[in-house]
Amino acid sequence: MKLKLNKNKVFFNNGLVKKEIHPFWLRERATGEKFLDERTQQRLFDPSSLNIEINIDKAVIKDNYLDIDFNDGVSIKLKIDNITSDLYNEDKVIKSLNKIKWNSSLTDIKNFEYKDNLFESKEMYDLLVQFYQYGFVILKQVPNKENFILKFANSIGSVRKTNFGECFNVKSKPNANDLAYTSLALSPHTDNPYRNPVPCIQLLHCIKNNVTGGLSTLVDGFTVTNDLKKEKPEFYKILTEVKVKFKFIDKDVILENWCPLIELNIDKSFKQVRFSPRLDYVPVIDKEKLNLFYKARKKLSDMYNSEKYKIEFKLKNEDLIMMDNYRLLHGRTAYEVNEGERFLQGCYIDYDSTEGKLRHLKRKFNF
Ligand SMILES: [Fe+2]
Repeated sequence: MKLKLNKNKVFFNNGLVKKEIHPFWLRERATGEKFLDERTQQRLFDPSSLNIEINIDKAVIKDNYLDIDFNDGVSIKLKIDNITSDLYNEDKVIKSLNKIKWNSSLTDIKNFEYKDNLFESKEMYDLLVQFYQYGFVILKQVPNKENFILKFANSIGSVRKTNFGECFNVKSKPNANDLAYTSLALSPHTDNPYRNPVPCIQLLHCIKNNVTGGLSTLVDGFTVTNDLKKEKPEFYKILTEVKVKFKFIDKDVILENWCPLIELNIDKSFKQVRFSPRLDYVPVIDKEKLNLFYKARKKLSDMYNSEKYKIEFKLKNEDLIMMDNYRLLHGRTAYEVNEGERFLQGCYIDYDSTEGKLRHLKRKFNF
């Protein structure tokens, strides 16, 4: 990306196109103590209060800086690197981390080890990169003290509290308000599809697991929905279009969210999967459309539950898994309650936590 001047106009050239940069766009970026708070990098003026007929009286490029005199009497000095990085119009940190598709053949995934200064370390940066590539990461030797998971989560960002509390205890209990709190098998699902917005990332910390069974399962919804798109495009399409009602009820709250099983971004790229067959209610639409929808949902369910896509492993004491609840499905095999104890603690955080931490560490280590 290069900047050029021509008759008091500033142009950028990205190798493909040459375009003029609007003078107001440059004027908004005024720096200096009168215009910008140096510590917070927040503006000290409201750009909408400026006259929109801003023009450039004089512009000079010198020593990696752009000096501009505007017709409202303001002169500014902008670092060219800052201007060019702003010209991309989209996030360049998270989006540059391409998702890596995986299925049951995934074996070479790296585990990380907890240490005291983890959250400000290069390992934390690598951990977050791997998280965005694969949708999950496992840490070993995370102190298995009760509620340590909250300290862990709050060291990345902020815990996302839900009606299950700041964190929840996954162990069988009498009169459970969710099947998660029994010893039954749980087929692959995403958490809280009835919530708006759905919590982005789930952390699960294994305090104790000495039962037979109770294996954790993971499925990559990104891989499965990509394969579905190739194999059965009409199934894929209808699952991105029909909004089903996800519902959760207990004595204190009724949560509802209408949304598709496969949600796409505006550019049709993958955004999110939701899947929780005990909680979804299909709308009344044309019978023929529903015929297609039911076939598509069955196919998707068969794929999510097939051995082809599932990885299965036992969380050991002091293991902590961090998984993307928009991308992965998780579940567990049944276990025998009378045999020993299985006690996991979980909580949620949102993408602003992990993305914010990743950008911070990238800046810190100059990656
Ligand atoms: Fe779950």
